[in-house]
Amino acid sequence: MMDMTLTTNEFQQIQSLLYQKAGITLTEQKQTLIVSRLSKRIRHLGLPSFQAYYDLVVNGVDSGELTQMLDLLSTNKTDFFREPVHFEFLKAQIIPTLSPSKHIRIWSSASSSGEEPYSIAMTLLDAVPDPSQWNCKILASDLSTRVLAKAARGVYEDERVLNLPPEMVKRHFLRGNGGQRGYVKVKPKVRQMVIYRRINLMDESFPIQSLLDVIFCRNVMIYFDRPTQAKLMAKFFRYLKPGGYLFIGHSESLQWIDHPFTYVAPTIYRKSV
Ligand SMILES: C[S@@+](CC[C@H](N)C(=O)[O-])C[C@H]1O[C@@H](n2cnc3c(N)ncnc32)[C@H](O)[C@@H]1O
Repeated sequence: MMDMTLTTNEFQQIQSLLYQKAGITLTEQKQTLIVSRLSKRIRHLGLPSFQAYYDLVVNGVDSGELTQMLDLLSTNKTDFFREPVHFEFLKAQIIPTLSPSKHIRIWSSASSSGEEPYSIAMTLLDAVPDPSQWNCKILASDLSTRVLAKAARGVYEDERVLNLPPEMVKRHFLRGNGGQRGYVKVKPKVRQMVIYRRINLMDESFPIQSLLDVIFCRNVMIYFDRPTQAKLMAKFFRYLKPGGYLFIGHSESLQWIDHPFTYVAPTIYRKSV
């Protein structure tokens, strides 16, 4: 079936809506992405054009369509133990300093489908001799309800864990059989360390009560412009304990924005003690 055409005006309307609601900046090159991701939805709803869809998202009584649109336009690529340096740092530098209190709070703030928060949970379980004695909570959040639902199920195609050490897969995943062959499921002891919430990083404040030891904000800031990034850094700072850490993605940097953090190593920042 042919894709619909997107006029320049329609592109600009969608572009500015996405910026307002999610802080995401879509460049001109992303027009084909909008067409390919939204055409099917528009046809499914029986609408004649992008304009009609935009009107529904903005004015429709059913505001759920905005969530649907954000789900369709967000890029959710992720992996277990993506950018392993952060998990090594967590294990070697952070966990040992917290072992006297055995208390740790971590936020995976653009968690996508769960690979990142589950990798954090697995790191904690493997790094301490007595995980059951720890008071440990991992908050995982994302803008997209679709990826959060997938994360909470904790079921993945088994090729997603192909590059992990077999011993680790055995420790932390169950292999499916029968109708579930070809899939793995994260074990309950890992899943129960993570709670999922829908949080928009553009919100003025976040539903977080106790200060955090670590915030992961990886591979989402690339979609935000500099003023949006700077605002987000100021908010993160408020929710971190003194001495707490911020991890960002490998292609991201805080170098060009105003921020209150101390640089530790590439992609690792700290709120000074
Ligand atoms: C590329 S994924 C990164 C996943 C993971 N952090 C990683 O590095 O593998 C980016 C995620 O950011 C989410 N996202 C985009 N804009 C957001 C916003 N304003 N608030 C919260 N999450 C957002 C997307 O839904 C997507 O799941």
